[in-house]
Amino acid sequence: MNVKKAIFPVGGLGTRFLPATKALPKEMLPIVDKPLIQYAVEEAVAAGIEEFIFVTGRNKTAIEDHFDHSTELETALLTKGKEEALNLVQGMIHSPGSVSYVRQQEPAGLGHAIWCARHQIAGEPVAVLLADDLILGTPALKEMIDAYQSGNMVAVMNVPADETGSYGIVTPKDEAGQLVTIADIVEKPDPEVAQSTLAVVGRYIIEPGVFDKLAEGRKGAGGEIQLTDSLAARISDVPFLGLRFSGERFDCGSKLGFLKANIAFARSRPELRDDIEKWLANTLLSQK
Ligand code: UTP
Repeated sequence: MNVKKAIFPVGGLGTRFLPATKALPKEMLPIVDKPLIQYAVEEAVAAGIEEFIFVTGRNKTAIEDHFDHSTELETALLTKGKEEALNLVQGMIHSPGSVSYVRQQEPAGLGHAIWCARHQIAGEPVAVLLADDLILGTPALKEMIDAYQSGNMVAVMNVPADETGSYGIVTPKDEAGQLVTIADIVEKPDPEVAQSTLAVVGRYIIEPGVFDKLAEGRKGAGGEIQLTDSLAARISDVPFLGLRFSGERFDCGSKLGFLKANIAFARSRPELRDDIEKWLANTLLSQK
């Protein structure tokens, strides 16, 4: 089934990254030289997405500027003959009308952010990408769209048992290859009550029925309107699958994950790999 639209919820406060996120959106934090949100958009493009819907909030205008023309910059690069840099910034511009911004007036939760985009989604399945879950290697959304037929789908991976309280946790029923049939999903269960260690990371394909559930505005874990609860409410009506994606995921909403991602992505870049590996080896050796 074709999935052509993607929602990028970027309305969160990013409190775990203060003070960096006081005036700068968390999604604009760079991994090497590219903001998190750009990686997410590029993953969506690689999966065939054609319409990009950002759900923004206060202090998020840098994201809009990032995906728009910067006439002064482009003129300056042209004048200085910096062709490569010019091509880079111009290559980020999507076709007119394919990018839209919806404002979430208050950060009432991920489910609420997605519901804010309901008028942009004319009754079709839509992808959701959380930019702070960064994936190195095979683009996860493409794997999902290739496998998607109907209903709801989430990207899943096993996490340490003491971390279930940070994730949506699914109860697996059957497994076939990368696909897991999901019997239940619970948001942030304590390790003592978690049904498994199979966690949802920030890639989803959701069907229109989820928006009907989100419209009920029920608050869940943390007093927020959670996407997880609306996915759970649809389990008896439509198929619900998890996809064990192939890439390596970094939680860039946390400081440690962000630092690890910077090192891993630097190592994946041919022009940086040797120098960063040499520096890492020397640093580690000098500790001994
Ligand atoms: P997080 O749970 O990481 O929350 O949101 P957060 O506010 O961004 O960060 P912390 O926990 O305070 O540090 C996951 C994703 O959902 C979006 C965020 O922007 C992020 O991409 N989100 C969350 C919204 O768009 N709106 C919300 O109300 C909550």
